[in-house]
Amino acid sequence: MSGSHEFVVVANRLPVDVQVSSKGKVSWDRSPGGLVTALHPVMQSQDGAWVGWSGRADTELDAFEADGMHLVPVPLSKAEVANYYEGFSNATLWPLYHDVIVNPVYHRTWWNSYLEVNRRFSEAAAGAAAQGATVWVHDYQLQLVPQMLRRLRPDVRIGFFNHIPFPPVELFGQLTWRKQVVEGLLGADLIGFQRTGDAANFLRAVRRFTDFTPRGQSVTIGQHWTRPERHVRVGTFPISIDSTQVDELARSEKTAQRAAELRRELGEPDVLLLGVDRLDYTKGIRHRIKAFGELLAEKKVTVPTTALVQVASPSREQVEQYRNLRQEVEVMVGNINGDYSSWGRSAIYYMHHSYPQEEMVALYRAADVMLVTALRDGMNLVAKEYVAARHDLGGVLVLSEFAGAADELGQALLVNPHDIEGLKSAMMRAATMEPPERRRRMRALRKRVLSGDVQSWARKFLTALAADRNPHE
Ligand code: F6P
Repeated sequence: MSGSHEFVVVANRLPVDVQVSSKGKVSWDRSPGGLVTALHPVMQSQDGAWVGWSGRADTELDAFEADGMHLVPVPLSKAEVANYYEGFSNATLWPLYHDVIVNPVYHRTWWNSYLEVNRRFSEAAAGAAAQGATVWVHDYQLQLVPQMLRRLRPDVRIGFFNHIPFPPVELFGQLTWRKQVVEGLLGADLIGFQRTGDAANFLRAVRRFTDFTPRGQSVTIGQHWTRPERHVRVGTFPISIDSTQVDELARSEKTAQRAAELRRELGEPDVLLLGVDRLDYTKGIRHRIKAFGELLAEKKVTVPTTALVQVASPSREQVEQYRNLRQEVEVMVGNINGDYSSWGRSAIYYMHHSYPQEEMVALYRAADVMLVTALRDGMNLVAKEYVAARHDLGGVLVLSEFAGAADELGQALLVNPHDIEGLKSAMMRAATMEPPERRRRMRALRKRVLSGDVQSWARKFLTALAADRNPHE
């Protein structure tokens, strides 16, 4: 079983939104996202293939070409969407890997579906990869693919990158299938994480739950009579954004005009606070709204001189915890607006939508304070986008210390979002910060964000993967 592609990406989703007409005609739009931006050049230069789910249940599609990439759809039935995607990936692993902010749910049927779907992805990857190809597997939905693929295709180089945190062993140990998951990942030649803490947690999990003993940043998989000894390397590769593109977009006249227009539409507040998140309980949206509500109650801020815009893009709406969160957030927003809004002027402008990137960058430019209050986050690219959009050195970033971005963005106002008083103080400090301090902090943040982008992130990972040759080969 082998194919013709020298480079294969395996990710839960394809990088396009697929539409199928009633006559079965397939059309697609490129879906925005950092990963496709990063990998598009590599895909084009190396005749790459991308293996992933189209996002539609019960839809069998042939492989197709899109935007110079060869796309290999992996079908999922309705039951698999419920058990593998909404269930094991997003109601078991997602909360478990994000500090059990909500309780993970464990079901054996979900695990069986996760096994089955990971097997299907592995087979699709094995079918697409040429002899000796490089295969890069992404994220928590596909942790068993490296080992399954290695069994099918011992000739390929396998990299794995985890976009979300890897939990401490004390939490990870709850997972009945912890050994299988760690061994699944150890099928890779290189395993990448966002933060050094994630890599350390993984290495501890290897020590605790498998028969292998890590040495430094590497794990040796012992010799077997059919296979030579193999070294798995574990590293830290903090992901970034297409910073140049965001910077250029933010500098455009059109964006500047739209930013001014947005401020006018919001009634020219003195201070505009902004939150932009997927509607996910990991993002600390409730904490931020609570803090804002208390500042209003204490009259530290008032309407209409201060406004909060909260963009909460719809996400995983079939999963119970996400539906509960939406209810809670919307009740909070309703209460605060009921108490503090005036005719035509709201305390909170809550948008349950996704917007095109142009509109988001205009919002970043319009906002005086960006609130990133995640309770746990692999990286948080919104924080980096806000910084990349502020060439004017205006704006203050309030950033949770529990977001991966905090490791790099120390010049933000770092907060513990659980500490509501601390969060309120940081919000006030940000809102009233003197321009020289604001400029100094933003300049330092920009230096960091603009010095590395998502393309260089991909290059670093792939260079490490290529260099990491087994000495016995
Ligand atoms: O951050 C992890 C991640 O899976 C991203 O890769 C993705 O963009 C986001 O969460 C949304 O996930 P989903 O594919 O479940 O909508």
